[in-house]
Amino acid sequence: MSEKKLKGQIALVTGASSGIGKAIAIALGEAGAAVVVNYYSGAEAADEVVNTIRQNGSDAIAIKADVSKEEEVFSMFGEIIQQYGTLDILVNNAGLQQDAAFHDMTLQQWQKVIDVNLTGQFLCAREAIREFLRRGLQPERSKACGKIICISSVHELIPWAGHVNYAASKGAIKMLMQSLAQEYGPKQIRVNSICPGAIRTPINREAWETREAYQSLMSLIPYNRIGEPDDVGKLAVFLASDDSDYITGTSIFIDGGMAVYESFADGG
Ligand code: BGC
Repeated sequence: MSEKKLKGQIALVTGASSGIGKAIAIALGEAGAAVVVNYYSGAEAADEVVNTIRQNGSDAIAIKADVSKEEEVFSMFGEIIQQYGTLDILVNNAGLQQDAAFHDMTLQQWQKVIDVNLTGQFLCAREAIREFLRRGLQPERSKACGKIICISSVHELIPWAGHVNYAASKGAIKMLMQSLAQEYGPKQIRVNSICPGAIRTPINREAWETREAYQSLMSLIPYNRIGEPDDVGKLAVFLASDDSDYITGTSIFIDGGMAVYESFADGG
């Protein structure tokens, strides 16, 4: 059995009923944390994640909330505090794409992506930090007073035509994360980002589903394989644990080298 590095800690993972969020929730549970599985749609899928975590020996509950709605975030945090007393780890994962050529992009498509991907991270981080400050540092829980992991993307760095709303939201998350790390470092709150490249999840199914699509995707990935959700789960456990206690304000890319621009290998 793996070491329970997060034993006694409480984690909230937003958007945890599928994809990267699901893998992170399960990995944090395996590391011993009690996990709050937030979801917006897909109650059944969220319950399955909860059951998996419980079968693996940790506590878990599912809470429905739209992270872009202040009232729903308030009530989700109220429920967490009522159930578990506090929170140690926030994984700001909920996110979506609404792709369109820029000249065709509607205000609604722009706003939806900014609301969920960026405002959702603001609202959840604010409530988490309020709780971390209220509780204060308790060395028996963790060396840090609290840990926030923002799920960003390689597209906080790599521009992405046809996905301007998404890339803009991820670029903004970079400064949200770094500014929070600067503001709350003195309170022993650590804030970092994970920047996944192409990970095999429903969000990018078109990019890996067929053999042709997969081959074309490989021209962007020096390491020549797609990422699996578990790859990201392991990194999240590291960033949430005291093993990474001296890491704050950093974006960690997990992308098989996508961000080193393979297209320049024989060009430029
Ligand atoms: C996007 C995926 C995409 C990947 C690499 C992610 O942030 O959500 O759709 O495959 O970046 O481009």
